[in-house]
Amino acid sequence: MKVEEIIKKQEEWRSHSINLIASENVMSDRARRVYVNDFMHRYAEGKPGKRYYQGTRYADELEEYATELFKEVFGVKYADVRPISGVTANFSTFFALKRKGILAHVGLSSGAHISHELGAQVLGFRTLSLPFDLENWNVDVDGALKLLEKNQPDFVVLGASLYLFPHPVREISESGVPVVHDSAHVLGLHLGEFPDPLKEGATVLTASTHKTFPGPQGGVVLSDDDGTFKKIYNTTFPYIVSNHHIHRLASLAVTLEEMRRWGGEYARATVRNAKTLAEALHALGWKVVAEERGFTETHQVAVDVRDRGGGKHVAETLERANIILNKNMLPWDDNPKDPSGIRIGVQEMTRLGMGKGEMEYIAELMDRALKKPEEVKREVIAFRSEYQCVRFSFD
Ligand SMILES: Cc1ncc(COP(=O)(O)O)c(C=O)c1O
Repeated sequence: MKVEEIIKKQEEWRSHSINLIASENVMSDRARRVYVNDFMHRYAEGKPGKRYYQGTRYADELEEYATELFKEVFGVKYADVRPISGVTANFSTFFALKRKGILAHVGLSSGAHISHELGAQVLGFRTLSLPFDLENWNVDVDGALKLLEKNQPDFVVLGASLYLFPHPVREISESGVPVVHDSAHVLGLHLGEFPDPLKEGATVLTASTHKTFPGPQGGVVLSDDDGTFKKIYNTTFPYIVSNHHIHRLASLAVTLEEMRRWGGEYARATVRNAKTLAEALHALGWKVVAEERGFTETHQVAVDVRDRGGGKHVAETLERANIILNKNMLPWDDNPKDPSGIRIGVQEMTRLGMGKGEMEYIAELMDRALKKPEEVKREVIAFRSEYQCVRFSFD
């Protein structure tokens, strides 16, 4: 029973690890229970009520329910829940909005996702990187406006994979170039205090549904703009998806019900925890970036670990202590294989009920783990056994 054994090993390991990968999360028990269902065998090409297959009566009902919940929870006019991941949502959007074939993003080493660069290039775009201001740890607005004026791209992608402070959506939108905000990382945080890009002037929001938004792996496109949304919706099918992994919509709807009730509380707790962890690491002498700006306003913390052996060494050593995070490029890097930094995300541990004391303890464990990973691993396993229930859920 090889497969069952592999799953058992994975579950034992990751349920006894401090999981700090900023792009992951865990679903509630109820969302997991409804994940395996008959919809995973079925097709429902097209849109509810207008399908190319028979047998889709309940697929229509489920997709409509998830769509309506998205609109309600995020206060938006239109939602497309069919993209099966954040990249798929980006592909639908980029393809639908392509004109001359020029796109601007925040730059790979400053946090942009590979789909903004390599993915866009596959779709025939020439890509431009906006200048980045290291003092504010954000897009350099004046420089960006000049670049946009000169090159007149089809649109700008704001939002990123390394994302510490809200990008200047309002200022960039006012230039007249449409903004697509990639909220893959911060979708769940929009339910707290992280600004809603659509209210700030962005035309479209794309996202994953499994990072700070703690649902099943999937994607979504949200917009208030009738014409733009229609173009994207009519691109998702037939150009980007055929089946759209309908079974996941059950867990998506359950998570939306949970976030309708607890989203604000969970989002605020997550950002508070990120700040606490950043402060605690800083107090232990770690070079947490953006100190002058208070380190972070998201679920993420970024640390320059060149003085501790570099991102690769630190991430690999911490993994030996069951502390799981990733190496990450920082704005001055050009080698993604051995970058200066690490990226930490606290959303999953927040969802398991951790708070200030736990964040301070995690900082201490990280600090000691770099010297004695195997010893600290025992402490991590004992600590993590106490946090096995998913909070902010109806279970
Ligand atoms: C900003 C951003 N966009 C898109 C994606 C891709 O998301 P997915 O893995 O859901 O395709 C990521 C992944 O981490 C991301 O960070």
